[in-house]
Amino acid sequence: MARVIAGISTSHVPAIGAAIDHEKLQEPYWQKFAQGIEPAREWMAENIPDVCVVVFNDHASSFSLEVIPTFAIGVAEQYQPADEGYGPRQVPAADGHAEFSWHIAESLIQDEFDMAIVNRLDIDHGCTVPLSILFGRPEKWPCRIIPICVNVIQYPPPSGKRCYHLGQAIRRAIDSYHEDLTVAVFGTGGMSHQLQGERAGVINQDFDRQFLDSLVQDPESIMERSRTEYIREAGSEGIELVMWFVMRGAMNREVEEVYRFMHVPASNTSYGLTILQNSQ
Ligand code: DHB
Ligand code: FE
Repeated sequence: MARVIAGISTSHVPAIGAAIDHEKLQEPYWQKFAQGIEPAREWMAENIPDVCVVVFNDHASSFSLEVIPTFAIGVAEQYQPADEGYGPRQVPAADGHAEFSWHIAESLIQDEFDMAIVNRLDIDHGCTVPLSILFGRPEKWPCRIIPICVNVIQYPPPSGKRCYHLGQAIRRAIDSYHEDLTVAVFGTGGMSHQLQGERAGVINQDFDRQFLDSLVQDPESIMERSRTEYIREAGSEGIELVMWFVMRGAMNREVEEVYRFMHVPASNTSYGLTILQNSQ
């Protein structure tokens, strides 16, 4: 049977992807960030999963703004890096696991999560940057991926509570898949940031720290937070944090935090990374 070996959440800042692609992580601006992600990379290298279920938001790269599914799942054999305006990132295409994707899609829909099914999905920085952060610059990604997209760019986004329940349903889907596979579930995006408007540049480290503490120890205590609260406390793009609840929902109620790293700023964002394992 498939089983979840880790839950990982990380911000997906595009400038990090550019710094990795152009070998700039040793420059002064990125040095502390580079040191901070190193233990996560080492942990990952020793615990490479067969499959990564990557929960991210498409930033109008693959879906455009004409059709925006609230929740979507990729069921393709392969996913190409998206062209986000500067040509696609020079990273490998990600191999999918179509049979496993279809199983998860079926299980989620039977479980009352009406996923959009996506046969072709180009993956933007929301998905590729977390892979680069954890795996560096390999010629081929070391695991297959199953992309799950959450709408956080067009009002109304789903609530943290709904996302947590989606994560629980994803866990049931993974646990019921016949193949013997190890799986890591990634939540991506956040932490506090706002990219436009009067409050562009908002960062709220206290909020981010408390969010992460609560997410790990007591996710139910913060999952009913409103969209307005995210905007007020974490800026308009802070809503990306709801995707971290999908990861958390896929884990046991009691978890062990293997690693945490926070760094401010990374581009316009408060950067956060956590690796969770299920407590025995
Ligand atoms: C930035 C962060 C994001 O999550 C994103 O999608 C785009 C830009 C930033 O910090 O610049
Ligand atoms: Fe984003």
